[in-house]
Amino acid sequence: MADNKRPESMARINTPERAQQFIDQQIAQLRAQIGSRKVLLALSGGVDSSVVAALLIQAVGKQLVCVHVNHGLLRKGEPEQVVEVFRNQMDANLIYVDAVDRFLDKLAGVSDPESKRKIIGAEFIRVFEEEARKLDGIDFLAQGTIYPDIIESDPKKAVKAHHNVGGLPEDLKFELVEPVKFLFKDEVRVVGKQLGLPDNMVYRQPFPGPGLGVRCLGAITRDRLEALRESDAILREEFDAAGLTGKVWQFFTVVPDFRSTGVKDGKRAFDWPVIIRAVNTVDAMTATVPQLPWEVLEKVTSRILSEVDGVCRVLYDLSPKPVATIEWE
Ligand code: XMP
Repeated sequence: MADNKRPESMARINTPERAQQFIDQQIAQLRAQIGSRKVLLALSGGVDSSVVAALLIQAVGKQLVCVHVNHGLLRKGEPEQVVEVFRNQMDANLIYVDAVDRFLDKLAGVSDPESKRKIIGAEFIRVFEEEARKLDGIDFLAQGTIYPDIIESDPKKAVKAHHNVGGLPEDLKFELVEPVKFLFKDEVRVVGKQLGLPDNMVYRQPFPGPGLGVRCLGAITRDRLEALRESDAILREEFDAAGLTGKVWQFFTVVPDFRSTGVKDGKRAFDWPVIIRAVNTVDAMTATVPQLPWEVLEKVTSRILSEVDGVCRVLYDLSPKPVATIEWE
C-alpha cells in the first residue's frame, strides 16, 4: 500500500512551472522504467487517459500503442478529436476501433440500467483484449488512474476501474504504468495544459464510463441515441456561446423512452422529449441546479426542436441531488 500513498513532500501542481517539473520528472522515470519496451493504453479521450498518453508520447514516442474504442456512446465529435489530436498532431501510434455496431447490438432490447452498465463495461474489456492479443511484445499497460481513484471508496469508481481495463484475463496481465496516480483532478488539468492538449479536452466535464448509454433511457435505439447526441452537441454549443462552460459543473441532455404528442407541419406528431440536466457540485455527492439564463434555455429549446429529428418537447430538470441523482439512470 506504501507506493499508493502520495509522498508528503510532493508540492501541489498549480502553476505551469510545477507542471513542467512534474512532466520532466515523469519523462525521466518513464524512460527508466520502460527502456526500449512497449506500452499499451486504452485512450478514451477523457482528461486522465489523454494526459497519460501525452506524457508517454513525449517519453517513449512510438513505443506507446494507444487503443481508442469507439463504442458509439461518446459525444458528438469526440472520437474524431482523439484521432486528430493524437494521431495527426502528436503522431502517436493509435489504433482506432470502430465497435459501434458491436456495442449497440449487445445493448439492443436491454432496458435495465445496471445490466446496460455491465454490458458496456464487459464489452469494452473484450474489445480491448482482442486488440491487445493482436499485438506482439507488449510489456506494460498504462492507466489514467488518479489519486481520488485510489483513496475514494465510491462504488462508482469500480465502474471506472473496469474502464481502466482492470478486468483483463490472467494471461494478459501487464506491468502497470500509472504516471498520474498521485495527482488530483485539478493537477491533471494543469499538467494537460502544459503538455499542449486542447482546452476542451483538458477542461472536459465529467463524463460517465458508460457514456450516452445511461442518458438514452431504457433500451437504447439508434434513433434516440442520435437525438441524444445531437441535442447534447447543441446544448454544449449554446453553453459555450453564452460563456457558461466552466461555470456549470456538468450539463447534458437525456432522452427518455416514451413519446409525447406534438404538431409538426399542421399534423399531429408523436415524438421524443429531450430533458436538459445541468448541475453544480463540489464532489458530486450533492448537487444544486443553476438558474440558467432564460434566453439560453429558449435558444437551446428552439434549436433542438428545429434541428433534431424526432423530438417535439424540451424540458429542464430542476431536481437537486438528493433526492435526484445527477444522471437519470
Ligand atoms: P450520480 O448520477 O450518481 O452521478 O449523481 C455522480 C457523478 O458520477 C457520474 N457517474 C458515473 N461515472 N460511471 C462513471 O464513470 C457510471 O456508471 C456513472 N454514473 C454516474 C455522473 O456523471 C456524475 O458526475
